[in-house]
Amino acid sequence: MRIGVLTGGGDVPGLNAAIRAVARRAYQLGWEVMGVRKGWAGMVSGEIEPLTPDQVSGILHIGGTILGASRTNPLKRPQDMQACLDNFEKFGLDALVAIGGDDTLSVALGLYERGAKVVGIPKTMDNDVAETEYCIGFDTAVSTVVDALDKLHTTASAHHRVIVVEVMGRDAGWVATMGGLAGGADLIMIPEVPMSLEQAAEHVRRRWDRGKQFSIIVVAEGARIPEIVAKEEDLGERDDFGHVRLDRRGIGETVAREIERRTGFESRCVVLGHLQRGGSPSVFDRVLATRFGVGAVELIQVGKFGYMVALKANKIVPVPLRDALAYNRTVDLELYHLAEIFY
Ligand code: F6P
Repeated sequence: MRIGVLTGGGDVPGLNAAIRAVARRAYQLGWEVMGVRKGWAGMVSGEIEPLTPDQVSGILHIGGTILGASRTNPLKRPQDMQACLDNFEKFGLDALVAIGGDDTLSVALGLYERGAKVVGIPKTMDNDVAETEYCIGFDTAVSTVVDALDKLHTTASAHHRVIVVEVMGRDAGWVATMGGLAGGADLIMIPEVPMSLEQAAEHVRRRWDRGKQFSIIVVAEGARIPEIVAKEEDLGERDDFGHVRLDRRGIGETVAREIERRTGFESRCVVLGHLQRGGSPSVFDRVLATRFGVGAVELIQVGKFGYMVALKANKIVPVPLRDALAYNRTVDLELYHLAEIFY
C-alpha cells in the first residue's frame, strides 16, 4: 500500500503534526508514504517524493509545513485535473490524504468524483469548514490574537487610546469572536453581524461616559461595515480560487481613523496579519492534528474515500466531503452575544 499526503492553501501551525501522524500511522501498518510538494501544484507537476521516517521526526512542534503549500486550483483547468489523476497513477498512489481548508478540499472532492481515492483533513485558521467543530490551526491563531490583545491592553490603557486590532478569518468571524472573547475586547466587528462606523463610535463614546478611557476593538478583515462596503473599490486580482486579498481593504486603519474623527479619541490600528499563522502549534492543535492524521489513515483502511475526518462532540468522525463543502460555517452567534456582555 502506498499513500500520498499534501498540504494546500494557507499554512497554519499543526500541519507538520498532521503530516507526522499520517506518516507514522501508515508506517505502523507497513505502508509507504509519498510527500506531495506545494499542495495541488505538486500533484499537477509531479513533485512527489518518498516521505521517510527521518523526515517526519522532530516536526510535531514546528509551524509551517515541511511539504510546502500553494493556492493552486487544478479545478480551473481540465488538463490540470487530468495531470493529478495521471500522477496518482504514475507514482503508484493507492490513496491520497489532502490536508486543507474548503479550497483544497474542493479539489479533493473533484478528484474523488473522477475516481481517485482521496480523503481529507480540515485545516484553516478561519475555522469555517462545515461539519467539524474545529479545524487545525484555528486554536493557535486565536492564541496569538489573545496574546496580542493582552499586550495591547496595557498600552491602550496607559495612553487612553482606542486600539483597533485587525485579524484574519476571511468571511467568518471565528478568529475575531473567540479572540475577542478570550482577550477581553471592548467591541468585536465581524462579517456575520453588520455594524456601522457610527455605531462603533457611539459605543466608544458610551464607554468613555462610563469612565472607560480606553477601548480595544477587534475587527475581522471581512467585517461588514455598511459605510465601507458601499464605497469599496475593486480589491484587485483574485487568486486561483476566486478570493480577493482582504488585507487590501485596510479595514482596521479605516475604523481607527473614523473612530478618531467621530469621537476625538486618539486611535491606533494594529494589523496582526500573518503573525496569526506563525509559531508552534498549541496543545489543542497538536492533539487535534494527531487525531485527524491517524483518523485519516483509518478512513483509508476502511475504504471511506470522498470523506474527511471531523471533530464532533470531541469525537473524530467521518463526514462526506460533499457535506463539509456544502456551506461556509459562520460564527456561533451565541458566542458573539456572550462577548457583548463584557463590552
Ligand atoms: O484562509 C486563511 C487566511 O489566513 C485568511 O484568513 C486570509 O484572508 C488569507 O488566508 C490570507 O492569504 P494569503 O496568505 O494568501 O495572504
